[in-house]
Amino acid sequence: MKKIIFATGNEGKMREIREILKDVDAQILSLKEAGIHADIVEDGKTFEENAVIKAKAICEMTGEIVLADDSGLEVDYLNKEPGVYSARYMGENTSYRIKNASLIQRLEGVPDEKRTARFVCVIAAAFPDGTVKTVRGTMEGRIGYREEGENGFGYDPIFYLPEYGCSSAVLSMEEKNKISHRGKALRAIKEELL
Ligand code: IMP
Repeated sequence: MKKIIFATGNEGKMREIREILKDVDAQILSLKEAGIHADIVEDGKTFEENAVIKAKAICEMTGEIVLADDSGLEVDYLNKEPGVYSARYMGENTSYRIKNASLIQRLEGVPDEKRTARFVCVIAAAFPDGTVKTVRGTMEGRIGYREEGENGFGYDPIFYLPEYGCSSAVLSMEEKNKISHRGKALRAIKEELL
């Protein structure tokens, strides 16, 4: 059976990936399951660059088809910050309570229509013949005025979805997967693999 490696160490992402790619005729392996210990420097300036760096590096190491993702939050009023630095914003080990409070504070007094933001997820697929494909999924919303909800992770509690009247941390995982940046990108990359 064909193997596809997904370059992540995140178990939550692997569950989501396996669920969405279940009808692709291949065995989907995490880095750990493929026995790979790689520390790849993500020094790209765009989500595309980072996803391609990761996918190509692991593909060259293994000779298998490799998928890699890069994601983050773009806040329009802050010139699309934190963007590719979303995980590193205010330091990798700073809690999301603090990161979220900082973003809310930086938008103090900014009216609803200027609080627009989006989650972005880019997935790159690197093939052993040297071909690389990328797909991008986005979820549009606004930065809220306070944290809300217990589900999700990261910036979800401050990511307000006007059409749902709540933050993405209030949605169940199934509801979020249907509309999320990652769900959309995974369904798009599946089309490339089939
Ligand atoms: P990475 O793609 O694993 O490097 O994650 C990038 C960072 O973007 C995460 O650490 C979060 O801060 C943020 N992020 C990406 N997707 C989401 C999401 O669905 N909810 C909340 N935060 C997210």
